Formats: sequence, structure tokens, C-alpha cells
Amino acid sequence: MWAYVNGAFVPDRDAAVSVHDRGFRYGDGVFDTLRVYDGRPFLLGEHLGRLSVSSQALGIGGLPPEDVLSALVREVISRNGFGHALIRTTVTRGGSDGWEPDPTARPSVVVVGRPFSGYPAHLYRDGVSIAVVTTVRIPASALDSAIKSLNRLAHIQAKREAMARGADEGVLCTETGLVAEGSVSNVFCVDAGRIITPPPSVGLLPGITRGVVIDLARREGLACDEAPFSPEDLQNADEAFLTSTGMEVLPVTRVDGRPIGGGRPGPIALALRRLYQGRVRDGG
Ligand code: PDD
Repeated sequence: MWAYVNGAFVPDRDAAVSVHDRGFRYGDGVFDTLRVYDGRPFLLGEHLGRLSVSSQALGIGGLPPEDVLSALVREVISRNGFGHALIRTTVTRGGSDGWEPDPTARPSVVVVGRPFSGYPAHLYRDGVSIAVVTTVRIPASALDSAIKSLNRLAHIQAKREAMARGADEGVLCTETGLVAEGSVSNVFCVDAGRIITPPPSVGLLPGITRGVVIDLARREGLACDEAPFSPEDLQNADEAFLTSTGMEVLPVTRVDGRPIGGGRPGPIALALRRLYQGRVRDGG
């Protein structure tokens, strides 16, 4: 497998960044993950746009321009002969001797990929289980939630807690007890035909898949609102589903050990999944 690291394409087993890199030392960097379908990157501009917004928000400058990053992603795809894959682009603030950021440091830029053709089919057929976890999402007042930073510790704790409870995904709430997002996904529920997902103002990563799904639902004439809801609302919903680049639209059939929607994937989740796959076929 070929990886791009700071100016060169190298076999991924030899790909390395410095131990002084602030991404390694402090998680001082950003990343974005995109999907490749049939050799074509899906929503490349959106993902590179978010990477750029995230790095600007952290004051990490000196990134290659978007057309160069875009060419690097395409080269990782072609060099590896990827059909279906995930490509991860990581940018860090570069190296420093100690805690203080070095304003002269150049950012580290890494593009790696791996073959990926989706989550196992049975998860879509049977739905997944989610657990609302005790770990609270880091509030936007501490770190702008729109930044897709390398710091994932609260989300990793959430995932660990979900795994310990036998659930597939952990859902983090805000300090005020509202549903924010999954450890690696956005959360939707359906109540009396109305699709609801928390608004970004609650403090969540506004996922690119989330945005596409909201757009698809509205174009289809379905009621779809960004509105806050509680874990109880989620437990009592008619349907729930998760969205992310890797998951696409993944139905939820258990919340905190209790079946939701009769324990079967809901019709709206399935319809949105089909619409999303149509968008994938159209290439964005
Ligand atoms: N992350 N919220 C969180 C905390 C996430 O980590 C992700 C996905 C999402 C969904 O975003 P999107 O639809 O843009 O993939 C929401 C990616 C897949 C990752 O961690 O690699």
C-alpha cells in the first residue's frame, strides 16, 4: 500500500512522522475521512473543504492548496488501485521541541487509504444497537465542534463504554443532557413521520453525510428538522438511524438495550439509505 507523507509517496509500512510531531505529542492537528466508490472519491471537495476550515480554525497554516491535496488523494487512489476504499487525510501543526507551538514549523501532511466496501450487510438488515453513554461531548465553548480534530478522547471513551455495554455505537450527550452525536456518527430519529437530527448549535460535528441526508429527505418531500431532543425522545422514537461516511445510513434497532421501531429497521431509514446510494451512483 502506498501512502503520501510530507512530500513523498512511500510504502505504508515505512511511512512515518517524527516523534516530535505535535499530532503525536498532543493530538494537535485535524483529519478527514472520505469514501471512494468504484475508484472515484465521493464528495472530495466537501471533505477537503472541511479539512481546510478545521485547520484554519486551529491556526494551522501552510497547507498545500486544495487542488494539490485533491491530486494527492487521487494519486493515493490510483497508485493503490483502489476500487472501494476509505482515504484519510491528516494534517498536524508539525514538530516542536516542547509545549510551545513553533511558528516556523511546517505542517505534516499524510494521506493514507485502505480498501473498504462498507459495513457488513447484516448490520443494515438487522439494524445496530446504540447506548447513550455517560461521557459528555466536549462543549463547543471548549473547542469548536465543527473542527474535526485529532483529539478524539471523549469519543473514544464513549465508544469504549458502548462496547462494554454490548452496544455497537455510543451516543454522547451535551452537558445539559441533549443528544449530540455518536462516537463516529450523527444521530437521527423519526417521530410520527418527522425526521429529526440535533442542530449544530447543540455542539456536534456537522457530518457531511448528515448534510446529504437532510437534503435528500427534503427533496423527497419528507419533514426533516434540525431540532434538539433528549435520550428519552430517542428511546421513544418510531425509528432511529446513524449517518457517517463509512456507515452511510445505518438503521438503529436497539437503544439502551430496548427495541425501537419493533426491533426492525424503519421504512424511512431504509428509504433514505436507498436515496443515499442513488446519490453515490450519481457521483455526488
Ligand atoms: N468521522 N460525528 C463524529 C464525531 C464523527 O467522527 C463522524 C465521522 C461524524 C460523521 O461525519 P461524516 O458524515 O462527515 O463522516 C459525526 C469520520 C468518518 C472518521 O472519524 O473518520
